[in-house]
Amino acid sequence: MHNLISYIRNNIKINLLLFFIIGAIPAAYAEQSAENIIKERQALFSKNYNTAKRVQSLSSKGKLDEAKRLMMEMSKNFKKLLTLFPENSKEGFGTEALPSVWEDKKSFDALMQQSSDRMVELTKTIDKSSDIEVALKQNMWGSCKSCHSKYRKEH
Ligand code: HEC
Repeated sequence: MHNLISYIRNNIKINLLLFFIIGAIPAAYAEQSAENIIKERQALFSKNYNTAKRVQSLSSKGKLDEAKRLMMEMSKNFKKLLTLFPENSKEGFGTEALPSVWEDKKSFDALMQQSSDRMVELTKTIDKSSDIEVALKQNMWGSCKSCHSKYRKEH
């Protein structure tokens, strides 16, 4: 027992150092994961933007099968995005998400889910659509706009 006390006393600096390192690991990890999550969702939005432009151009050329495949990809990405707005990712790391996302998380999630559903809907209706431009505006570009106007910073 005596030995243990003198060991702790002799090594107090090392013990304190270890204590702080062990304490700092979870905090550093949370920071790291918030950064990764923000970067991941931004990359996914950028990807969806590029895909949307391709959907637009393929559709206007009448290449609907290829366009539909990309619509399904966008739908899946919107679903994935539902998981990329956890509480610890509200600020920092260049996020353009507004606090309103978390103040009104249910409506935000509903809008994201609706955006995903509309892309699936589009794969079913685009063939019969009399005006492809209008269909894309309503079911694809409209989703981006209605969400950004409430939940994304001016950029
Ligand atoms: C339900 C909400 C929602 C929908 C739907 C949505 N966005 Fe966004 N978008 C956001 C938010 C929030 C951000 C900010 C993310 C961040 O910076 O953390 C964002 C960011 C972006 C960015 C910037 C990414 C970056 O690199 O910083 C682009 C580009 C983008 N969106 C395109 C689109 C397009 C195109 C659509 C439609 C096809 C769309 N978004 C649909 C909410 C949405």
